[in-house]
Amino acid sequence: MSILFIQGSPVEPSRSAALLGFVANEIGRRGIDNSRLKLTDLPAQALLHARFADPHIRIASERVRGATAIVIATPVYKAAYSGLLKAFLDLLPQDALDGKVVLPLATAGSPNHALVLDYALRPVLQSMSPSLVLPGVHATDATLARTDSGGYVLSDDIIDRLTRACDRLVYEYRALHERRPPADTPADPVPFDQVRCSI
Ligand SMILES: Cc1cc2nc3c(=O)[nH]c(=O)nc-3n(C[C@H](O)[C@H](O)[C@H](O)COP(=O)(O)O)c2cc1C
Repeated sequence: MSILFIQGSPVEPSRSAALLGFVANEIGRRGIDNSRLKLTDLPAQALLHARFADPHIRIASERVRGATAIVIATPVYKAAYSGLLKAFLDLLPQDALDGKVVLPLATAGSPNHALVLDYALRPVLQSMSPSLVLPGVHATDATLARTDSGGYVLSDDIIDRLTRACDRLVYEYRALHERRPPADTPADPVPFDQVRCSI
């Protein structure tokens, strides 16, 4: 049971990674196990040539499979999400998000493409059978001020929206945890036609 944070920007420092970092800190503070997957750490050739069998891709894919919830951060590129993120999502199995809660985050130069999470990313996530894709958080660059040390300071409004998104994520994560059968319960229910009823 853990939350995996996927960093989908090809550049560093990254504003969308700053959103991800804020959520990761909040989640850590609430005592939930979490880890980060930086897509720029994956081999570019494997991503570009769709090498499903590449060992790094397989490990990354396993990490997605092993997580209970996923937080994905991406910059808005050409009115959609990053090509790096798409290249990675393309290499995941069709049921990669089965039963998981997903929180999408995006940063963008302008508010013009604020719906990108809903019209571009959500359908792709939805195709991989998640339990729930939460309402995403979209932030414009103007709400993230660059610091001298190369980091970003988030505006109060973004902090507020991210904190509320964390509350919902943790609520859904815990609900999912409670709904999971104990380890000694068979994963598959008895088929209906094999259930015996005594009257
Ligand atoms: C190649 C490229 C395409 C972009 N396209 C858009 C766009 O269509 N709409 C928009 O609002 N911002 C666009 N931007 C701005 C980025 O989305 C924005 O600066 C974002 O915060 C960068 O996130 P990052 O620092 O995590 O990479 C684009 C930036 C680049 C480099």
